[in-house]
Amino acid sequence: MSSEEEAKLPPHVLIFPMPIQGHLNPMLNLAQLFCLSEFHVTFIVSDFIHRRLLNHTTVPETFARYPGFQFRALSDGLSDDHPRAGEKAMDIIPSVADVMGPLFKKMMIHEDLFASASRRRVTCIVADGLLGFAGDFAEKNGIPFVYFRTSGACSFWTYYCITELLEAHEIPFGGNGMDQLIKSVPGMEGFLRGRDLPSFCRVNNPNDPVLHNLKDLTRQTVRAHATILNTFEDLEGPITSQIRKHIPRLYTIGPLHTHLKSRLNEEMILSSSFWAEDRNCIDWLNGQPSKSVIYVSFGSLTVVTREQLFEFWHGLVNSGQRFLWAIRPDSIIGGENHNIPVELTEGTKERGYLVGWAPQEEVLNHQAVGGFLTHSGWNSTLESILAGVPMICWPYFADQMVNSRFVSEVWKIGLDMKDTCDTLTIENAIREVMGVRKNEFLERTEHMAKLARMAIREGGSSYCNLDDLIEFIKSLVI
Ligand code: UDX
Repeated sequence: MSSEEEAKLPPHVLIFPMPIQGHLNPMLNLAQLFCLSEFHVTFIVSDFIHRRLLNHTTVPETFARYPGFQFRALSDGLSDDHPRAGEKAMDIIPSVADVMGPLFKKMMIHEDLFASASRRRVTCIVADGLLGFAGDFAEKNGIPFVYFRTSGACSFWTYYCITELLEAHEIPFGGNGMDQLIKSVPGMEGFLRGRDLPSFCRVNNPNDPVLHNLKDLTRQTVRAHATILNTFEDLEGPITSQIRKHIPRLYTIGPLHTHLKSRLNEEMILSSSFWAEDRNCIDWLNGQPSKSVIYVSFGSLTVVTREQLFEFWHGLVNSGQRFLWAIRPDSIIGGENHNIPVELTEGTKERGYLVGWAPQEEVLNHQAVGGFLTHSGWNSTLESILAGVPMICWPYFADQMVNSRFVSEVWKIGLDMKDTCDTLTIENAIREVMGVRKNEFLERTEHMAKLARMAIREGGSSYCNLDDLIEFIKSLVI
C-alpha cells in the first residue's frame, strides 16, 4: 500500500485487556465506541475468553456489524482446569506477563502490526494498565500507547501511593492495626483506614513481591501517552485531580456501559458474560413489588466457603426481605462439586430466587430491586450507581476494599460490612438499607445516578472527554 493510500485509512487501535470478566467488559465497550468513530480495532483476548464469548454472548454478532473490528486470541498460560477464581485469581497476572506477553510480541511482529490491504499497521495501543509488557513493546517499536485502568480513580490512587505508604511505614500496618487512619494517600485523610487499602497491602513483609509488582505496574502508568479511567468527574473529581498532578492526560469517560448505550441503539448492545445468563429471574422479578428485592452477587472471581454461604443465607432469610441471589457455578469452596446445598435451594423458594449468573444490569434496573448486596467490584459499583440502587458491600479483595469505603463514607450510598460475615450483621444491614434508612440511601443514590447520566449526555464531562480521547488518538497516527 502506498503511503498516500495508507493516509486515507482510519486509525488502527489495538486493545488489550487483562483477560478477566471485570476488565474485559469496559474494554469491549470502549472498542465498540471506537468502532462507532470508524476506527479499525484489533482486540486481543485469551483463547479461554474467546471460547466463552463464542458460546455465551452476542459479542461475535455485535462486532460482525463493524467491518473494522477483529479479534486475535492467544493463550493466557493457565490450563483449562485452572480455577481462575478465589485465591488462585491472581495467578493470571504473572501468567499473562510470562506467556501471553511473548506470544503477543511475536504475533505483532509476525503479522506486521496487523497491517492488511485495508488496514494500517496498529497506530495506537490501548492496553490494560496491568500489562506492563504492552507498554514495553509499544515503546520499543515507537508505537503510541494509552493505558486503561479499569478500576475506579479511588483505588488507582491508593495503588499509586503504595511507595509513600511504605516509606511512611503505614504498610505493613504492624502495631497500628487495620483501623488506624492512613495519612499517606492525599485526599483520603480522615476516612481511609488500613483495612480500606487494596487487600494486597495486608502484608507482614514490606518487600512482599505481589505488593511490589502492583506498585510498579501502577507507577509505570505515567510513561503512557494518556491514561483512561472508567469513572466520571462528579463521582471522583477530588481524586482525579490528585492523579492529574502526576498524569495530566487523564481521560475519565465512564460509566462506559451506559456511555455506549447513549450513543447507540439498545439492540446493538452486546452481552459479554462468560456464563450463560439465566433470564428466568426477570419473570420472577416481574411478580415482585416495587423496590422489595435485594439482589445478591459477588462478581466473577469471588469464592465463598459453605460457612459463609450459610451466614449470608440465614441473614437474608431472617431479614424477611425478598432476594435474588446469583451464585456462580464455581463459587462455592469446600463442598461437593461446588453444588449449592439442597437446604438452601429448598429453603429459598418462599421468598427468594437463585440463579447461576444473572443479567445483572437488567436486574439492577428492574423496578422490583431496591438494594444490592455486592462484593464491590468496580463494574458492579458503577452499574448499581447508574441504576440508583443502594449497596451493602462485602468486599472480597483488591480494589473492592477501597470502593466499599467510598460507597459508605464518601458517597454515603450504602453500608460497608468489610471483614465481617455473620448472620446478624447481614440481617441488620439489609433491614437498614431496605427499611429504616431506605429513603435516605435512595435519595443520594438517585442523585448520583442523575449525575452519572448527565456525565455521558452530550456536553457532559465523560462525553466530552471521550471525544477528546478520540481526537487525541487520531492525532497520534504514525
Ligand atoms: C474484577 C475485580 O474483582 C474488580 O474488583 C475489579 O474492579 C474489576 O475486575 P469482578 O470481581 O468480576 O471484576 O467484579 P465486577 O467489576 O463487578 O465485574 C463483574 C461483572 O460481571 C459486572 O459487569 C456484572 O454486571 C457482571 N455480572 C456479575 C453479571 O453479568 N451477572 C452476574 O450474575 C454477576
